[in-house]
Amino acid sequence: MNDILIAVTGSIAAYKSCELVRNLVKSGYTVRVIMTSNATEFIGKITFEALTGKPVLIDEYESGMPHIESKTGISVMAVVPATANIIAKFANGIADDLVTSTYLAMQAPVLIAPAMNPGMWNHPATKRNIDRLKEDGVSILSPQDGVVICGDEGQGKLADVPIIEKKIIQLHNQKLQSI
Ligand SMILES: Cc1cc2nc3c(=O)[nH]c(=O)nc-3n(C[C@H](O)[C@H](O)[C@H](O)COP(=O)(O)O)c2cc1C
Repeated sequence: MNDILIAVTGSIAAYKSCELVRNLVKSGYTVRVIMTSNATEFIGKITFEALTGKPVLIDEYESGMPHIESKTGISVMAVVPATANIIAKFANGIADDLVTSTYLAMQAPVLIAPAMNPGMWNHPATKRNIDRLKEDGVSILSPQDGVVICGDEGQGKLADVPIIEKKIIQLHNQKLQSI
């Protein structure tokens, strides 16, 4: 019940999750990473395997039941960064890959840190999906204002890594105290 699960999805901000994972491991936490296959377009699983010392799961059908394996012994699941796509899937209970199946099976608290183009963040569909996730008890670390990688300006940048880290540790401690 002590491991922190980081789910990485296909955003340009995926590289920032390396720093997050590194910091958590350095602070003594046991961290496991799962990824969407689109996330691997941005960063290789080998990086997270080196940072955590643990295998990174991506493929739901590789062997056994990885979504059950991934949810077991977890204190908090944090999706960093969370794409508009994964938010939409979570909000609608879609389970068509390892990250979404793990989310549905998860009994620990879930935190998502979205990162996307401001147009995507402000779209009524995304707003609706975020509201639904809040109703479902998911913690949301809203993105910050700024200039995103494509040059557009507005809300969409991933929250700062130390803020995400602090929230993960807070949820982790709450979970351990509740057992
Ligand atoms: C260069 C590039 C950067 C992208 N950055 C983001 C992003 O920051 N946020 C987002 O929601 N989608 C972004 N996308 C689109 C997602 O990769 C796409 O919606 C994908 O289906 C997400 O898959 P996943 O949610 O399964 O990881 C980006 C696409 C490209 C090509």
